[in-house]
Amino acid sequence: MSKLCVNIDHIATVRQARREESPSPLEAALLALQGGAIGITVHLREDRRHIQDHDLKQLRKSLSRKHKLNLEMALTPAMLAIAGKTGPDEVTLVPENRRELTTEGGLEVMRHLGLVSKAVARLKKAGIVVSLFITPDPKQILAAAEADADYVELHTGAYAQAFRAGGAQGAKKELARLKEGVGLALELGLRVNLGHGLTYENVGALAAWKGVEDLNIGHNIVGRALMVGMERAVKEMIKAMKGKK
Ligand code: PXP
Repeated sequence: MSKLCVNIDHIATVRQARREESPSPLEAALLALQGGAIGITVHLREDRRHIQDHDLKQLRKSLSRKHKLNLEMALTPAMLAIAGKTGPDEVTLVPENRRELTTEGGLEVMRHLGLVSKAVARLKKAGIVVSLFITPDPKQILAAAEADADYVELHTGAYAQAFRAGGAQGAKKELARLKEGVGLALELGLRVNLGHGLTYENVGALAAWKGVEDLNIGHNIVGRALMVGMERAVKEMIKAMKGKK
């Protein structure tokens, strides 16, 4: 059974709409952990549209090492320096495009193998576990193993989109593609996380897959938390992961 890491970026999105103090990402993180999440994920974007540098520092200071602080970031010298200084438990390298609403594709590991391998080695040397956010494309999975990453996070966006359009039946093909990707990654000795676009409705089909460790889920939980509070929203997601309503 996989575990839940809650992405709290959009708590910061609401705060940044007014550049005020609240709502506090740290408070949301602590409530998410209280609700049963094992970790917190934040994406420090280059344009700082939601999470800010001080959020990351505060989270590092407040989260004990028994929980996971997962920093999503672009592969740039500035971000590598921030990761080295802050010391998250895990870094997930993601592609970043300033105009996108959310991370759209996966990292092109195959095309940038040299650069990615160097970044992986630098982060590992700093004691940080490294994950690469990629589509479930066998070529990218093989490249991630070659880059010596600890984890891959397989992009579940295409599955989520197919589910939205056609329900569980319509998403069968994308689900099978993901499952094959998980199998290949595990065979190559990679550890596996999944994330992007996962919801209370679509998560049940993949949360119990053997070998999948963390699900990184943000938008859907934050949306629900606005209605019922973060702790309850997280508890409900963990229930959905177990296939219960
Ligand atoms: N994983 C990665 C790598 C992401 O970039 C995001 C979005 O920030 C997520 C997971 C969470 O996606 P969602 O907000 O759609 O649950």
